[in-house]
Amino acid sequence: MPKTLLTHHRPQWRTHIGFILAAIGSAVGLGNIWRFPYLCYKNGGGAFLIPYFTALLVVGLPLMILEISLGHKMRGSAPAAFADISPHWEWLGWWQVIFVMFGIVLYYSVVIAWCLNYFYFSFNLSWGHNPNHFFFHQFLAVSKGPFDWGNIRPQILFSLGIIWFLNWLIVFLGVEKGLERANKIFMPLLFILTGFLVFWSLRLPGAREGLEVYLRPDFDKLKQVGVWLDAFSQIFFTLSLGFGIMIAYASYLPRRSQILKDATSISLVNCFFSIFAGLGVFAILGYMSYQSHQPIDKVVTQAVGLAFVSYPQAISLLPAFASLFGVVFFGILVIAGLSSSISIMEAFTSAVIDKFNYRRRSVVSVLAVSGFLGSIIFATQAGLLLLDIVDHFLTQYGLVLAGLLEALVVGWFWGAEKLRSHINSAAQASLPSFWDWTIKAIIPFTLGILFINALIKEFSAPYGQYPPLTLILVGRDWLLFTLFFAVVIAARRWANKE
Ligand code: TRP
Repeated sequence: MPKTLLTHHRPQWRTHIGFILAAIGSAVGLGNIWRFPYLCYKNGGGAFLIPYFTALLVVGLPLMILEISLGHKMRGSAPAAFADISPHWEWLGWWQVIFVMFGIVLYYSVVIAWCLNYFYFSFNLSWGHNPNHFFFHQFLAVSKGPFDWGNIRPQILFSLGIIWFLNWLIVFLGVEKGLERANKIFMPLLFILTGFLVFWSLRLPGAREGLEVYLRPDFDKLKQVGVWLDAFSQIFFTLSLGFGIMIAYASYLPRRSQILKDATSISLVNCFFSIFAGLGVFAILGYMSYQSHQPIDKVVTQAVGLAFVSYPQAISLLPAFASLFGVVFFGILVIAGLSSSISIMEAFTSAVIDKFNYRRRSVVSVLAVSGFLGSIIFATQAGLLLLDIVDHFLTQYGLVLAGLLEALVVGWFWGAEKLRSHINSAAQASLPSFWDWTIKAIIPFTLGILFINALIKEFSAPYGQYPPLTLILVGRDWLLFTLFFAVVIAARRWANKE
């Protein structure tokens, strides 16, 4: 039973800052750079910071405190922590780590691989005069539909191999020698490179106009429900909540730990990083609109379009050191992405070690090879389309549902008070009793609304104009399969540790 974990030897972070950096590394990912700035622009500029920070206070921070304290108290990965609450809930922990590991990361690593390809392309600006055509038709050669796989793109496969090798290497080396050391290099590097790029971008002509559209507040927008929903779902994804990651990372903390302080600093650094990165994104979009004489709202994009079309376009327009700019930008994306993908590798690995007592090195090796093989489907010509569908279902439904259940199980089934007194005793802190009600009621309520809203939209129009059957076969079934495996694994016996 999971209780035996208490006596079992468990790795520990060597330094406190090592834990903080690793958690920040998990939180700061592609979403901070390519999604947050766009959301801000679309949802009222500077005024969006109000719903954003409200979401942080109301859902993000309380859930972050929950996950860190749960991992810390139970000294176990998500499945072990939930199994400690009740064997009936163990599947929830497995579901979190399985659908992130065998869902989100499979395509997330392919996107990191694209970034790595573009990192090389930057040296001679290989995307040429028409980055849009280059990306969709030459690089990805996107097929006509999600089931029309075409062939595997060799360049992407190659970078994908490198990404999975790095994932494997870092997690293979363990908590202290792998994750802690990697993040101690990655995070400072990420901050320095981002700082460098932002200040460079801000000095370009047109940057001012870019910042204007990014941050000019439009308070009227706050009357729209959609703006608030966007803020809540972004907070949830950006802080890596509901993934089981923070639970695993916190299980390697020493007994005396400042859970409240840590949760606050991790969340704040993550959110300020997003705002800061947005300055760079909009400065360069401003420059592009200035150079190409197009109105700025014509050049603003997000996600794939921003990173692989708009940025390359803007980079090609730079008068000097264009390649350097590209190398730094795609380098930033690779680092931000890798430090997130290793975090779920670790969450999954520690879950398997907790339950079956296998050796870390074998678990990580099997995991990396199967992850690599699984990712290959997204490296085919249908990759972009499949990725789009799977991402939609896993983040809109899987994550939200997992977070909602997590709050309900801890809040009602087990008792938020117990966790609160644990936090307070571990750190001589005083988390107000109001927190209990946030976990019991406010979080389930807001996540419930997110979930219902997503469902309503789903039924009013099929996502992204894909045929409904495709959405069901790819998106919904992906969720159901992972759920099935979670239930099966949860039913297996715990290896006896002693
Ligand atoms: N928070 C990350 C972002 O904003 C996403 C993320 C965190 C993630 N951990 C992850 C994605 C693990 C995949 C796997 O982009």
